[in-house]
Amino acid sequence: MENEILLQLKNVAVHYGGVKALDGVDIALDEGEIVALMGPNGAGKSTVLKALFGLAPIKSGKVLWHEDEINPIPHKIIQKGIAFVPQGRRVFTHLTVEENLEIGGFTVRDKVELKRRINEVMEMFPVLRQKRKAKSGTLSGGQQQMLALARGLMTDPKILLLDEPSLGLSPKIVKEVFAKIKEINLNRKTAIMIVEHNIKSLLSIADRAYVLDKGKVVAKDTAENITNSDVLEKVFMGKYTKSI
Ligand SMILES: Nc1ncnc2c1ncn2[C@@H]1O[C@H](COP(=O)(O)OP(=O)(O)OP(=O)(O)O)[C@@H](O)[C@H]1O
Ligand SMILES: [Mg+2]
Repeated sequence: MENEILLQLKNVAVHYGGVKALDGVDIALDEGEIVALMGPNGAGKSTVLKALFGLAPIKSGKVLWHEDEINPIPHKIIQKGIAFVPQGRRVFTHLTVEENLEIGGFTVRDKVELKRRINEVMEMFPVLRQKRKAKSGTLSGGQQQMLALARGLMTDPKILLLDEPSLGLSPKIVKEVFAKIKEINLNRKTAIMIVEHNIKSLLSIADRAYVLDKGKVVAKDTAENITNSDVLEKVFMGKYTKSI
């Protein structure tokens, strides 16, 4: 049986003034999979995640949750079990690690359950337990990225949208972050859509990949086939013009 589609954009256009950030884009995320979004700067990758999360001005097309058309608005999207960890580690630097996690779990009303989840994510990221009383601004870049990821997990999402989780991190920490992402996917069955410039690491954990260029999808395939094709080379060299 095919896995069920959880969330998708159907023929979606997003315009920022005169800029066509997305132009007739079809992208889907199935149950339990890791989907990679790749492409050069300005291709529209972040816009895809924002459109799914209700943070981009959708000009035309549809967003579907399972089979139903939805009008994404962030707080409603969170209630459906979708979490978004945006580009650039947006932790609240003046608050402690623990306070950041509490904010991440704002949908959890029960105090005992909130504690349980904080404990659970600290199990996963031991460094956060060590630093739980520290102001987040004093954490290293890698630790802040771990915190951003952990905070995204506090709502116990079914879907995680990650924008450049390895940005600015050293190769060793990048490896750790990617291992955590794969672990989240395997242990929690979380479906993950991830934008990343670190293509090798990304394709090594992804099931499927989309390649975007100038607001259009120019390739979609299994991660393996994308790895073995020359599409990325072409797109990054600016030689790809055709959309699929
Ligand atoms: N808020 C905005 N206002 C105006 N234009 C925007 C806005 N956000 C994005 N754009 C434009 O939309 C296009 C797609 O941007 P997007 O951020 O999705 O690219 P990206 O693929 O994530 O690039 P990067 O790899 O640099 O993060 C770009 O041309 C960008 O300048
Ligand atoms: Mg981006």
